[in-house]
Amino acid sequence: MQDRHVVVLSGAGISAESGLATFRGAGGLWEGVPVAQVATPEGWRNDVGRVLRFYNERRRAVRAAQPNAAHFALKELESIFKVTIITQNIDDLHERAGSSRVLHLHGEILKSRSSRDDRMITECAGDISPGDRAEDGSQLRPHVVWFGEAVPMMNEAITVAKAADFFLVVGTSLEVYPAASLLDYVPQDAPKFLVDPMPVDLSDERVHVVQATASEGVPRVVAHLRSMMA
Ligand code: APR
Repeated sequence: MQDRHVVVLSGAGISAESGLATFRGAGGLWEGVPVAQVATPEGWRNDVGRVLRFYNERRRAVRAAQPNAAHFALKELESIFKVTIITQNIDDLHERAGSSRVLHLHGEILKSRSSRDDRMITECAGDISPGDRAEDGSQLRPHVVWFGEAVPMMNEAITVAKAADFFLVVGTSLEVYPAASLLDYVPQDAPKFLVDPMPVDLSDERVHVVQATASEGVPRVVAHLRSMMA
């Protein structure tokens, strides 16, 4: 059954039970800091050191975190389906759970890049400090998409969404575009599932909503998909 394609759109909520903060639970603060100060080009222009310190803390938290049952359930799904995960998350928990096809729409915190050329990307396991330079001599920055910046992987994500036989949304408020628009590209006849502990008012009533946390709801959806293939 490897030919049937499950496409997943994940957000911060799938990593919440791994101890990583979501964005909109704390009134526009991300770990107590106004998002605009640390996740925008303006924040970068105003205070490079504050932005670097913020992401250094996020990077340490990601490295200390472990994948949870939701991440592992998506890895298990690969034994029956082709699975592509489109994630808005900058952590590597999908990869560490063993998922083999992960597309990071908003970048990856364990990578850094030139602040002049967004193709000049390097691995980054440790801190980035003011004065750390990319090969082109520019200040090194996290390889993360900030508000107002382009989302380079979006076209590829749209192509993937259009090829979905099943679509699973987990742990995202669907408030940030263009990521949230991916649901619109999924074929009409593809069964859609959404896992979130909060009630969601979706305009698309063809979505099967599972009101549960990711570690509880994703294994349930995976078991259901398995039963559909049995
Ligand atoms: N399990 C599943 N979902 C959860 C859990 C959990 N344990 N806890 C919270 N959630 C849900 C919330 O109810 C919410 O719907 O996860 C969602 C998190 O939404 P956001 O905090 O808005 O995160 P996300 O949708 O990923 O944000 C999108 O916005 O800030 C930018 O670039 C950043 O990628 C991020 C994007």
